[in-house]
Amino acid sequence: MHDRSRRVAAQISTAASSGGPAAGTLDEAALPPDVPRANADSVEPLAPGAVVLRRFAASIDAVLWQAVQQIEAQAPFRHMETPGGFTMAVAMTNFGPLGWVTDKRGYRYATIDPDSGLPWPALPEAFRALAVRAARAAGFGDFEPDACLVNRYVPGARLSLHRDADERDFGQPIVSVSLGLPATFLFGGAKRSDPTVRVPLEHGDVVVWGGDARMRYHGVLALKDGVDPLFGRQRINLTFRKAG
Ligand code: SIN
Ligand code: FE2
Repeated sequence: MHDRSRRVAAQISTAASSGGPAAGTLDEAALPPDVPRANADSVEPLAPGAVVLRRFAASIDAVLWQAVQQIEAQAPFRHMETPGGFTMAVAMTNFGPLGWVTDKRGYRYATIDPDSGLPWPALPEAFRALAVRAARAAGFGDFEPDACLVNRYVPGARLSLHRDADERDFGQPIVSVSLGLPATFLFGGAKRSDPTVRVPLEHGDVVVWGGDARMRYHGVLALKDGVDPLFGRQRINLTFRKAG
């Protein structure tokens, strides 16, 4: 058992010995049992409407890794072009009925992968359950994701400050899962020029932002080099959205 598994095992046993997750925050019966449970210690407030759920996704990392490897065959990662003509440093693909794309025509959600002409791969049930459970742990009870953008960062890749503004209903939160190499997430304000806080994110950490935080600027600093025991020399980020 490597360090990470030991930490997760410790968290789970702590939760069990203290009576389990905080009552009333999760609808346990409505979700499949094979996804992790937050315990009170792992919920870290970031801003009104935003939290970090430390290690929330760590115990199903093998399932997530398998799906990320499989997506390569169906909808490979690609570097998309911004409307301004820049090639993005982060490589992207999508799971789910809707996928986020950008090209010279602009940013949008599309039902068809423009590279293959086929629908995006279906959102695995374990992914959906993870996102719904994380949203609930953060206080967003009715999250129903229909899009999962998969971002791949190699050392040096960064994501500049932006807002997630292509979704229809800003009443629904964003659920963002970090896997692989650690990164520094920047969480800003309502304006691009507002100060940002630096949030170190590690493998398995989940950030949820909605409500008053939904339209805040955010980004990721250039990824530092390293090797993750499972994901290798990269960071994978999954962002779940209700887009349509
Ligand atoms: C995003 O804003 O879409 C990704 C954030 C991250 O990679 O942590
Ligand atoms: Fe974003």
